[in-house]
Amino acid sequence: MIKLAPSILASNLMHIEDEIRIFESMNVPYIHIDIMDGLFVNNFSFGTSAVKNIRKITDLVLDVHLMTYDPIKHIPAFCKCGADIVSFHLEATSKPDKAIDCIKEHGKKACITLKPTTEAEAVFPYLDRLDQVLIMGVMPGFGGQDLIVGTIDKIKKLRRYIKEHGYNIDIEIDGGVKESNIRRVLKAGANVIVAGSYIYKDYNIEENINRIYSVFKEFE
Ligand code: DX5
Ligand code: ZN
Repeated sequence: MIKLAPSILASNLMHIEDEIRIFESMNVPYIHIDIMDGLFVNNFSFGTSAVKNIRKITDLVLDVHLMTYDPIKHIPAFCKCGADIVSFHLEATSKPDKAIDCIKEHGKKACITLKPTTEAEAVFPYLDRLDQVLIMGVMPGFGGQDLIVGTIDKIKKLRRYIKEHGYNIDIEIDGGVKESNIRRVLKAGANVIVAGSYIYKDYNIEENINRIYSVFKEFE
């Protein structure tokens, strides 16, 4: 099933509740929330209080993308404040198994994220325990960048391996996704589509989501 995950990194925070009501009214299933520590990536974004407050006003799936070093230290707090899916970067820890354990112990869905510079093969040993793999289409840290070309082949390789081994895992693509390249990422095998700047473009949220939905329809 193809799912849309708007990234609220591009939100106008003064109107976040109205934006979330639009997502709900359009049956958008996920909200993608970026967490940055200023070290793993050169930027800051949201923390636990944002997740907690968003959790209070919606039942949508909160897809929390940790861009932090030492994710094991932070995972419990994000699970407790309302995340449904927790993604951590494979590049950010030497103990990915422990990080997965920690997410699962809290009853949440576990996802490993790969930077554009990390090969698809790096996540293969963990697939039997994952619910989702997040493939970054840009270097993490900032919205509004262009999709890196090699991303498509990486998604293809991962989807092929997942199929061959009979796993049931979502492949999420994050960064640089827009109407003009969604067909390619879907064709390659991604099924969870994060979009930030495209969805918020000109603040025409409904129109932009409808454009994305019309591409999704071609794949139903
Ligand atoms: C970047 C973030 C993305 C970002 C995507 O590090 O992980 O979620 O919001 O933004 P766009 O869709 O503008 O590339
Ligand atoms: Zn993200």
